[in-house]
Amino acid sequence: MPAMSDRSLTCPPGVFRATVAVPGDKSLSHRALIFAALAAGRSAVSGLGPGADVAATAAALERLGATIGDGAVDSPGVARWIPADGVLDAGNSGTTLRLLAGALAGRPFRSTLDGDDSLRRRPMRRLVGPLTALGAGVETSADGTAPVTVWAPKPLHGAAIEIGIASAQVRSAAALAALQADGATTIDSPPGFRDHTERWLEALARGKWVDATAFRVDPGPVPAGEYRVPADPSSAAYLWAAAALRPGAAVVTPGVSLNPGRIGFLDVVRRFGADVDAEVTGDVLGDPVGVVQVRGGGLAEVDVGGSLAVRALDELPLVGILAAAGEGVTKVSDAAELRAKETDRIAATVAMIRALGGTAVATEDGFVVEGAGGLRGGRVDAAGDHRIAMAAAVAAVACRDGVLVSGAEAAAVSWPEAYEVLETLWSSR
Ligand code: S3P
Repeated sequence: MPAMSDRSLTCPPGVFRATVAVPGDKSLSHRALIFAALAAGRSAVSGLGPGADVAATAAALERLGATIGDGAVDSPGVARWIPADGVLDAGNSGTTLRLLAGALAGRPFRSTLDGDDSLRRRPMRRLVGPLTALGAGVETSADGTAPVTVWAPKPLHGAAIEIGIASAQVRSAAALAALQADGATTIDSPPGFRDHTERWLEALARGKWVDATAFRVDPGPVPAGEYRVPADPSSAAYLWAAAALRPGAAVVTPGVSLNPGRIGFLDVVRRFGADVDAEVTGDVLGDPVGVVQVRGGGLAEVDVGGSLAVRALDELPLVGILAAAGEGVTKVSDAAELRAKETDRIAATVAMIRALGGTAVATEDGFVVEGAGGLRGGRVDAAGDHRIAMAAAVAAVACRDGVLVSGAEAAAVSWPEAYEVLETLWSSR
C-alpha cells in the first residue's frame, strides 16, 4: 500500500441531483474471473471492478495458467491449472483468498495463499471444516489465519456440508471445490448470505437450490462463455447514503446488481425515511440487475438486526453515519461478523462517529448511535479499511466543518475513484 495520504472533503450546501455510473461489482468480478479461469477456452469478461482486490484475483489466476486482458480470459481449464511458483498473494482481499482456496482445494498439488497484515488477522479456520469434508487437505497457521495451504490428496468426494455462519465466501469456497468432486455436494448455512455463486452455478446447470438456504452442487466443468459484471451495490451505497443525508437530494445508479442478499442497505435507508425506488431491468446468469434512485428525506431512528443486518453487513459503517446525522437512537445488532472484516469494523465505526463529533457506543455484536441531527466533522482514521474511508468521506454531506480522511488510499482496494465521484455528485445541480 502507498504512503498514508490525507483527503479533505467538504460538501457545499444545497440540493444535488445526478445519475452516476458505479464501477463493476467486486464480488461478481472475483467470480467472473474465477469461473472464466475454471472453464477451458476463451471467455469474454466485461465490467470488472477497478480495485486492487479484483486485481489480486486476476494476478493469482494468471500464475495458475490463465491469460487475462482485453476483456477476455483464456484458460486451459481448472483440470490443467499449473502449480503457482511460490505463494499466491491475495493482498487485502478475503474473497480472493477464500474463493481461490476453495478452487485450489480440488487440485492435486499444494497451493499456499497469503495476504497483507490485515488479511493475516482474519479468520481462515472456517474454511477447514467444509473443505476437509470433501476430502481436501487444508492447513492454516496455528491461530487459524493465513497463510492457508490447500490440496487434494486424492480426488474430492461429494458431501453434505453445514456451515455455521452466513458467509458467502465460505459457501463459495466449498462450491468451487465441490465442482471438482466425484459426486454431488449440498451446502447449507444460516440465511442472509449473498448467493451470487449459487445463482451462476444454477444458470450454468451445475447445481440447484434444495430449499431456501441449501444448495446442491453438481460437479463438472463450467463453460467458457460470457461473464458480465454489473455495477457494485456496495459502492453505489456511498452515493445512496449521500442522497439520503441531504433532504431533497437525489441520485440515480443504473445497472446495479440487485441481488437481494446485497441490498439490505436500501431497506435500511427506506426505514430511515429516504425515498427509494429500485427496479430490476434484467439479469446476469440469473442474478438480478437494475436501476436505483434514492431521494433524501428526514432521518429517523432504526433498528437493524437479524437477517437485515447480514444483508447490509458491508454497509453498516454507513448506517452508523446516517444514524449519527439523524434523530433518535439507532441500534445495530447481530453483526458480530463485522469484527472479522478488513479491520474490526464495530470499533472503527464507533471511532469514526466519535471523531466526527457524534455519539456512539460499541456492543458485543453491533453498536448504538444517538443521532444529533448533524455532525461537526473532523479527522477520521480509515484504519486501513476501504469501507471506513469511504463512509467517512460521505459523512461530509452532514458535517458542518468537513472531513479529513487519514489513510484515504485504503479506498483503492474497491473503488480508487470514490472521492472524485462523490465530489462530482455533490457539485451537480
Ligand atoms: C463477499 C462476501 C462477504 C462480504 C465481502 C465479499 C463475497 O463476506 O462481506 O465483502 O464476495 O463473497 P463473508 O462471506 O465473509 O460474509
